[in-house]
Amino acid sequence: MLKIAVQKSGRLYEDSLQLLKECGLSIDNGMDQLKAEVRNFPAEIYFLRNSDVPQYLEDGVVDLAIIGENVLMEKQSAVTILEKLGFSKCRLSLALPKHLPYLGITQLNGKKIATSYPHLLRSYLESKGVSADIHLISGSVEIAPNIGLADAICDLVSSGSTLFKNGLEEKDIILRSEACLAVNNQSINIKNEWIDELRFRIRSVLQARGHKYILFNIPNEKIEIASSILPVLKSPTVLPLLENGWSSLHSVIHVHDFWNVIKKLKEIGAQGILVIPVENMVI
Ligand code: PRP
Repeated sequence: MLKIAVQKSGRLYEDSLQLLKECGLSIDNGMDQLKAEVRNFPAEIYFLRNSDVPQYLEDGVVDLAIIGENVLMEKQSAVTILEKLGFSKCRLSLALPKHLPYLGITQLNGKKIATSYPHLLRSYLESKGVSADIHLISGSVEIAPNIGLADAICDLVSSGSTLFKNGLEEKDIILRSEACLAVNNQSINIKNEWIDELRFRIRSVLQARGHKYILFNIPNEKIEIASSILPVLKSPTVLPLLENGWSSLHSVIHVHDFWNVIKKLKEIGAQGILVIPVENMVI
């Protein structure tokens, strides 16, 4: 039985559950439940406080966790990151009041910096030869400069709106982070069969999220040029249409190429272009 930790509340919660559900796990989770059974996979889901997850994972109370890389790195957890999951992307950054000019990190020598990430901040400052007074705050860090508690802050930035609302400006990025799947170092050997199965499913879902299925009609004489436009997995599927001289082409394209590919296909006379989400992708 795999014990999987996900965030109890916060910005990883919904995306974590969504990912597990897209992996085919039927999770019986009710409101305020701390543990949920999975009906069709040998796993239990534990809903834990973000900051507790690294310790539970390291101690083997849970085998796997969906957690921000930033949390694992701050806690220096002796666990292994198996997959980056592509959501909850953020930066751990230094920010100062907007009106202050920033001439570089040495400007923070002797200054007071508020943060919930003392370890990562200290390592960064040391690597730059800067000595500052680190003031530990567990939340609402962005308020610190406004109430005279600190000269600068070091906190997570995602959209940047919290900084903006508090009159702060991101000056230096210490770390880039996203949600990841992390594993306890013993569990990876003991429970590898089911961990591998879950990883396989996660990869298929993540691959699919980055791709779309495309189909369109094209005159037969344009099939070759249409194929050259498509950055396909193998080669496109070509099906004859009832109408003489026309075919339907099917393929899979990367979301980044999406508009570019459609523009080119329209230019060569493609018609009835349909683009469909891909649910799973096994390569
Ligand atoms: C984080 C972080 C910032 C905010 C930044 O807090 O501490 O306050 O997000 O996001 P933004 O750039 O999109 O405004 P979060 O809401 O995750 O909760 P926390 O206070 O528990 O860290």
